[in-house]
Amino acid sequence: MNCDRRKPGRGEVTVLVGAQWGDEGKGKVIDILTEDVQYVVRYQGGNNAGHTVVIGDDSYVLHLIPSGILHEGKICVIGHGVVIDPKALIDEIELLKSKGISFDGRLKISGKAHVIFPYHCKLDELREVKKKGRIGTTKKGIGPCYADKVSRAGIRIADLFDREYLKKRLELNIDEKNAILRNLYKTPGFSAGEIFQEYVKYADRLKEHVCDTTLLLNEALRNGSSILFEGAQGTFLDVDYGTYPFVTSSNATAGGACTGAGIGPSRIDRVLGVVKAYTTRVGEGPFPTEFGETLMEKIRTKGGEFGSTTGRARRCGWFDSVLVRNSVDINGIDSVIITKLDVLDELETIKICTAYRYKGALYQSIPGNPGFLEDCEPVYEEHPGWKKDTSEITLHRELPQNARKYLARVKELIGTDIILVSVGKSRKQTLVYE
Ligand code: IMP
Repeated sequence: MNCDRRKPGRGEVTVLVGAQWGDEGKGKVIDILTEDVQYVVRYQGGNNAGHTVVIGDDSYVLHLIPSGILHEGKICVIGHGVVIDPKALIDEIELLKSKGISFDGRLKISGKAHVIFPYHCKLDELREVKKKGRIGTTKKGIGPCYADKVSRAGIRIADLFDREYLKKRLELNIDEKNAILRNLYKTPGFSAGEIFQEYVKYADRLKEHVCDTTLLLNEALRNGSSILFEGAQGTFLDVDYGTYPFVTSSNATAGGACTGAGIGPSRIDRVLGVVKAYTTRVGEGPFPTEFGETLMEKIRTKGGEFGSTTGRARRCGWFDSVLVRNSVDINGIDSVIITKLDVLDELETIKICTAYRYKGALYQSIPGNPGFLEDCEPVYEEHPGWKKDTSEITLHRELPQNARKYLARVKELIGTDIILVSVGKSRKQTLVYE
């Protein structure tokens, strides 16, 4: 039986994911990998994401538009697994245009992507402010929009072009949301008419970009083009695999590329994971290797660990190999890129978490029982630091010996290859792992 996966002439598919809690530095890596592909695709999340790309003296933060837009000629696709706030998207397009980025038919949006409305943002915000057990969301309406999608009350981009249908759906939805807003949260509701008028204008602005992106991508592959799928957030924010309920509402893992963009699993040629040399997370939720106050402040400042979407201070901690090893399994990661190694440059000693101790037993994985990650005790090994600036180093063999040992130990513990190491924000601060 001949069942070769990749037919001759077909383009290559790479899926890139965050292997921790997001903010691993994916923007820079995507920017480097984009050189070798023709298409860059977002498949989940929304404008809760913030991918920072530094080109020369300019820094761009992309929330919804794939980072490929910064490369002339690359086609950028927002797949149907993404939730789109049209106003945020239009603002992002305008901002990029004002910085001289040309679109030229390069942005494609799936008509099947769900739309974020003001009531989604309001409900997200109210749940965060008024409910006990807050998640620490970005308040961009992500959770409520995905909830409507799954409960089959959502409105999709293509629906914006059918005025009668849109009006009816909006009235139905807003009736229900207003009842919740007024009765439960004692807050004024929304006017379906006003939202209709506003969103019809957005539809006109976005129309030129909307198409059947699943067909587009599969045709592109057949014609020999290569595709990079850029995951947003990270593995442990995935709604299924993450530290539930402190997660986002989409599948940030590699499988999300199939369901969120319409590419079959057999088309994926490689999965790459982006891994920070330490760990961070934003918002609430368990974090076993979180630093104490002094180290937190030091690493947060050195690493610029502030959210690119909300500006919130990120929580920082030691590298957790249990998390990343699990991430390698969940995503089927073939190789990883280690980022922000330079942030550890000044430390005397550096710890790596190798297991969790919970009720006397050792764990190498994360069982789903509530309270496990909150109550477990990380088991650490301690490594000597290198106390040397690595940010100008361009060759792996020129890294201080202790930095090379640290990377080798990380590689051994996570059980997968390291291909690149990043030691700063710019493209040239990247070295090939030998
Ligand atoms: P939401 O995605 O806004 O609903 O937020 C849910 C959780 O995911 C919160 O803990 C957020 O801080 C986190 N989150 C969402 N997007 C990102 C991201 O791009 N980077 C890091 N954390 C994120």
